[in-house]
Amino acid sequence: MWYGQSCANFVRELRRNFGAIGAVLPSSRFLARAMTKPLKDGKPTEPSRRILEVGAGTGAITGEIVRRLRDGDRLDVVEINQRFGDLLKERLGSDWLNSPQVRIIHAPLEEVPGDACYDYIISCLPLNIFPSLQVRRVFAAFERLLAPEGTLTFFEYTWIRQLKSPFVNRRERRRLHRVGGIVGSYVRNYQFGCNHVLANVPPATVHHLQLTGKSRTEAATFVPESNTPVRGSNTAL
Ligand SMILES: C[S@@+](CC[C@H](N)C(=O)[O-])C[C@H]1O[C@@H](n2cnc3c(N)ncnc32)[C@H](O)[C@@H]1O
Repeated sequence: MWYGQSCANFVRELRRNFGAIGAVLPSSRFLARAMTKPLKDGKPTEPSRRILEVGAGTGAITGEIVRRLRDGDRLDVVEINQRFGDLLKERLGSDWLNSPQVRIIHAPLEEVPGDACYDYIISCLPLNIFPSLQVRRVFAAFERLLAPEGTLTFFEYTWIRQLKSPFVNRRERRRLHRVGGIVGSYVRNYQFGCNHVLANVPPATVHHLQLTGKSRTEAATFVPESNTPVRGSNTAL
């Protein structure tokens, strides 16, 4: 019921603004579960958790995060699109529990203030449609906002860059290659887990990262995607 309504709102907004949305449908509940796995797996003794969701759209993943909130947790939801922001506020007032724990922020991720202020960042940003400079800015914001032992989770549509590349012009192919290099560097250096979600349109790959260890910005150095072996990968769902 909610998913149908959510799809209608999503598609309406997509027609106006594909450039910043970058998906054809809201995420499935299987993808939502994989995206919130670190929250589920967190130790029961963990003190109140500070969570940031980025690019919530109509709330397909927000609902699952809210279900996983414990007493004392705080969830900030950042969404650049005004209409989606209004829709999320409406949902918050009606069908979501724990709403005092949730705050909707209408802004781009890059403008969210603070340093090391989130234990979990769950991002749905469509990195593969962004210019490579913006992808660097997004990862710089993740690095700034994430606490030292924090977890960053984000998804990409599986093989999307490889599938698109043969059908686009040279400029676009170079952009995809650069984006792949940036994302691949972070995945190679920091990934501790990965889920492949087939039950989503299109199928998606979820990356779980901990941005600890070597100097974080070192990972942003361009490395071609083909040199990207990853740690900790498994197929789920
Ligand atoms: C692929 S959609 C995901 C929507 C939803 N989370 C889902 O999984 O169905 C990406 C969302 O990111 C939002 N977005 C794009 N750029 C953003 C930015 N710089 N900061 C915050 N949100 C952004 C878009 O408006 C869109 O709602």
